[in-house]
Amino acid sequence: MKVFYQKSELNASKNKILAKSAGLVPTMGALHEGHIILVKRALEENELVLVSIFVNPTQFNDPDDLKNYPKTLKSDLQKLEKLEGNIWVYAPNASDLYLESITAKPFDFGALESTMEGANRKGHFEGVATIVQKLFEALEPTSAYFGEKDFQQLKIVSALVEKEKIPVKIIPCPIIRHSDGLAMSSRNRLLNPKHRAMAPLIYETLQKALALKEKHSPAQIESWIIDFFELHPEFELEYFTIADAESLQKTSVLNGTKNRAFIAVKLGNVRLIDNIKF
Ligand code: PAF
Repeated sequence: MKVFYQKSELNASKNKILAKSAGLVPTMGALHEGHIILVKRALEENELVLVSIFVNPTQFNDPDDLKNYPKTLKSDLQKLEKLEGNIWVYAPNASDLYLESITAKPFDFGALESTMEGANRKGHFEGVATIVQKLFEALEPTSAYFGEKDFQQLKIVSALVEKEKIPVKIIPCPIIRHSDGLAMSSRNRLLNPKHRAMAPLIYETLQKALALKEKHSPAQIESWIIDFFELHPEFELEYFTIADAESLQKTSVLNGTKNRAFIAVKLGNVRLIDNIKF
């Protein structure tokens, strides 16, 4: 494994090895088993695997969220070091990617960003698209791996690649869950023990909603979810949306399996998201 802190150093070495396939796993660090599974898959499918570790300031709409986001570079590197294969880590400072101005580019993803995370975290996807484009330009991967836990992000990145004609293949990867059903996330480590024990209720609720699908409309399921979380006041429900899996627009009629149910809740100060095929 090699670790680079500057894109110029990484590219100088990359030009020397001429890998035919380079798979990028973009991360904000605080690596967990879900990330490791992405890296392992990328190792199976590429000659070279690039793992970026960078907590991107422009995608945080809340300064406290950015401040509290776990930063664990040393242990991240130790976890990657244990894997076998050709891994290059890129762990830059903001200035290596943003040069002098840490600002997001004003992208317009239209309806794709008008709902859910886009509606609830103003500017979030401009920040994500800005950094993902910068990473693609700096590292020139042939493919890039994105987890479906951030399903809307995956759609935005696919739209970005199409819009900007970036020659990279986006590979969607299934959500990885703990044995109790909680979707793996770097934010889980911010949960206190009581909230961590309660957090599997998020996935359980999605499963219960799915069981209602045969006999109830999306609107009825949504109001059932709202009532359900009123009985569990530790959870602050931000949204529950059943949407078309392509357009991400709220659906009023359930048609086959083209839908996904999305949820965002706060447990204490920790905001968690999840989704399932619906
Ligand atoms: O999903 C993430 O960890 C981040 O949004 C990403 C894609 C690394 C961009 O900062």
